[in-house]
Amino acid sequence: MFVRPAEPADEKLLWAMLYEASYSREQGRHSPDELRDVPHLGHYVEGWGAAGDLGVVGGFDGVPLGAAWLRLFDPVDPAYGYIDADTPELAIGVAPEGRGTGLGTALMTALLDAARDTYDAVSLSVRLENPALRLYERLGFVEVEGSRKANPAGSVSVTMVLRF
Ligand SMILES: CC(C)(COP(=O)(O)OP(=O)(O)OC[C@H]1O[C@@H](n2cnc3c(N)ncnc32)[C@H](O)[C@@H]1OP(=O)(O)O)[C@@H](O)C(=O)NCCC(=O)NCCS
Repeated sequence: MFVRPAEPADEKLLWAMLYEASYSREQGRHSPDELRDVPHLGHYVEGWGAAGDLGVVGGFDGVPLGAAWLRLFDPVDPAYGYIDADTPELAIGVAPEGRGTGLGTALMTALLDAARDTYDAVSLSVRLENPALRLYERLGFVEVEGSRKANPAGSVSVTMVLRF
């Protein structure tokens, strides 16, 4: 397994991992390219490598299979797990063939280690029924009170925050 910092050249991979993270296949979207025009989704990756962006890429035998990254948003165009303009929101996706291998945990750990040098906290949005919620709790994320809301897929999402 390898984990390395994400670079601007990794934008295509991040689109692919956003496709995984947003359950786009299940929602009938056919390719990561379709995400560019989806309101509130494209801005997680568009123009990757901007000031404040931080990410990691990982996989096996030199083949990238996952990424975790974070980015600051603003109140005019907030992301799903937006808390405030100083708290970046994290996104993570691992390709189906890489799941359950420890890669997601390794990506989260590496990204959070890097983030604590720059930020006081990191937020994310997750569906209540997603098993990844347990992973986030293990890493210290806690639910933001009053943040539960219906998501476009028809279930309930919650915002979580990790304060360093
Ligand atoms: C969530 C995800 C990034 C974790 O990556 P991973 O490589 O599978 O992670 P690990 O092997 O380190 O396992 C960590 C946790 O991930 C979750 N997980 C593991 N396999 C999974 C799978 N096939 N599907 C969904 N979640 C899975 C579990 O919560 C696991 O913890 P547990 O063993 O205590 O239940 C990855 O499974 C994934 O991309 N899932 C679909 C997209 C998604 O849910 N993204 C997060 C949106 S908030």
